[in-house]
Amino acid sequence: MKAIVWTKYGPPDGLQLQEVETPTPKESEILIKIQATTVTAGDCELRDLTLAPLFRLPFRLYFGWRKPRRVMVLGQELAGDVVAVGKKVTQFQVGDPVFAATGLRLGAYAEFTCLPVQSAMTLVWPKPVNMSYEEAATIPTGGMNAIHFLRKAKVQPGEKVLINGAGGSIGTYGVQIAKAWGAEVTAVDGASKLEMLRTVGADHVIDYTQEDFTRRGERYDVVIDVVGGSKSSFGRTVRCLRANGRYILGNPSLSGMFRGAWLTAVSDKQIIWEAASYQPEDVRLLMALIEAGRIKVVIDRRYPLADTAVAHRYVEAGHKQGHVVITVAQDREI
Ligand SMILES: NC(=O)c1ccc[n+]([C@@H]2O[C@H](COP(=O)([O-])OP(=O)(O)OC[C@H]3O[C@@H](n4cnc5c(N)ncnc54)[C@H](OP(=O)(O)O)[C@@H]3O)[C@@H](O)[C@H]2O)c1
Repeated sequence: MKAIVWTKYGPPDGLQLQEVETPTPKESEILIKIQATTVTAGDCELRDLTLAPLFRLPFRLYFGWRKPRRVMVLGQELAGDVVAVGKKVTQFQVGDPVFAATGLRLGAYAEFTCLPVQSAMTLVWPKPVNMSYEEAATIPTGGMNAIHFLRKAKVQPGEKVLINGAGGSIGTYGVQIAKAWGAEVTAVDGASKLEMLRTVGADHVIDYTQEDFTRRGERYDVVIDVVGGSKSSFGRTVRCLRANGRYILGNPSLSGMFRGAWLTAVSDKQIIWEAASYQPEDVRLLMALIEAGRIKVVIDRRYPLADTAVAHRYVEAGHKQGHVVITVAQDREI
């Protein structure tokens, strides 16, 4: 099969289209023919290991110190069709359309992949009938993280929610889920994304290049910050919270985690940085919104598998709106 092999840590030219062996499912796995996958900010951070310092050491130990230690294929989410099932698999049949998160197994930049059907680290779920493969491939990173963060924040109808970095994968889902739950949503991102953010339901938009939301004097019940790092001010953001406010660190720094634990212990504010996992309860809640037509997936650009490196260059140059999709299957309408 064709796959994009991750040959080195560094720029996108280390992503090379190669012929590799098609995997065979073990007895609790399914083989999926991949129709679509995505390029996320997280894929680019992983590719060149520009992850938060906290994650760099464990990732090098896991993937290889100087370069990926075996034939590795990046890609963390996909949608496709089940084409073979292991002996012990009862949940899926050949022909079922699914979407999936591959977790640290990665492997979605390929024509086929094998995944276990029951694992805390991965997710395989029937594809919603009202989404294309391209749209469904965006559910794990964007949708699952967004619903996880909003659930952790216990967003209530009528509350004021601000999403910093709202125009990307997680944010575009987050705005729509928060609106569906009855919140008043402020979306912060660059000027080019504000019109799109209004169309997906944001009540208020702020251009971060023109205005610092922490200096407007507004107070919020919930702030979801997927930007993090040196681009976000922890102290000023905390001061924007109302009494009993919740601040979700979607991209936490070590200092933010320590300061957050302290503030949560000594104040009425809650600072939360728990990484998203694939809880069936979260998936069911999100599926209900998708099936009710409450979620519009924003797809900025589509690339063929062979142009995955080009897609990485586009995503890391910034200015992606919503999602960038790789259409793996070129031979049929998706
Ligand atoms: N905690 C977890 O479990 C978890 C899971 C998945 C991902 N993540 C992390 O979360 C982050 C966001 O993920 P994503 O996939 O949503 O990324 P994304 O698609 O790149 O979206 C991020 C958005 O933030 C905007 N932005 C950049 N600087 C900003 C600033 N100073 N103020 C406001 N907005 C700004 C970007 O716009 P520009 O075009 O202007 O750059 C972009 O629209 C990534 O770093 C990823 O690693 C965390």
